[in-house]
Amino acid sequence: MNPSRTPLIAGNWKMFHGGQSSVPLAAGVVEFAKELTNVEVVVAPPFTALAAVAAELHGSPVGLAGQNLHPKPEGAYTGEISGPFLRECGCAWVIVGHSERRQYFGETDAVVADKVSAALANGLIPIACVGETLAQREAGETLRVVKAQVEAFLDVIAQSSEAVAIAYEPVWAIGTGKTAGPAEAEEVHAAIRTWLANKAQSLADRTRILYGGSVKADNAAALLACPNVDGALVGGASLDPGSFGAIARAAQAK
Ligand code: PGA
Repeated sequence: MNPSRTPLIAGNWKMFHGGQSSVPLAAGVVEFAKELTNVEVVVAPPFTALAAVAAELHGSPVGLAGQNLHPKPEGAYTGEISGPFLRECGCAWVIVGHSERRQYFGETDAVVADKVSAALANGLIPIACVGETLAQREAGETLRVVKAQVEAFLDVIAQSSEAVAIAYEPVWAIGTGKTAGPAEAEEVHAAIRTWLANKAQSLADRTRILYGGSVKADNAAALLACPNVDGALVGGASLDPGSFGAIARAAQAK
């Protein structure tokens, strides 16, 4: 493991837990995170829970992430949230281009690149998501699709000295209970590392590549043991501090 790539375990709470029920969940995350060494833990609650969760995380090692941002800093964009607002709420991170955003909200590779750029311009570390659909995997298109998604924001992240994270999340593995096997995940992660290195070795060295898609306590260790898997983006299992804590503890072995 490259020392600049401390394992990162991020919990994506999606549209679960508002400002009230998010507080005990955040408290549960703080509880296990205090005991961890050499693992970074981040949670991404819904927007309306950010302030309450920020208060709960205060003084703890757990980082706070938005689940999305608008590319512009402010403006007449009803229903949207900008990078400066996330910063003001206490976020240091933001998930960008999650497959649910791409699938249900029409986010294209170009939009994702604009959002990665906006995140960096506002001092937020993007967790930029990529991944193929089942049809694309079955057509043997996985590496071509993921490469195009990475290339869309490659120049943006290469120009920044910030250590961004990329999450490889096969769409067919999200919320389905199916995971890529460690060998399948490692193949894509290693390819991403090579594309980063072709741009700049320092970029490959500092970028954490997370795996996401049905990561659970019982499959985390095998996935995290892969040399190019630097952490996990966890959905369902992050809603239970017991499971999320077990995944984070598995990352300590890296
Ligand atoms: P899952 O979600 O762990 O529930 O599959 C992962 C994600 O969407 O980030």
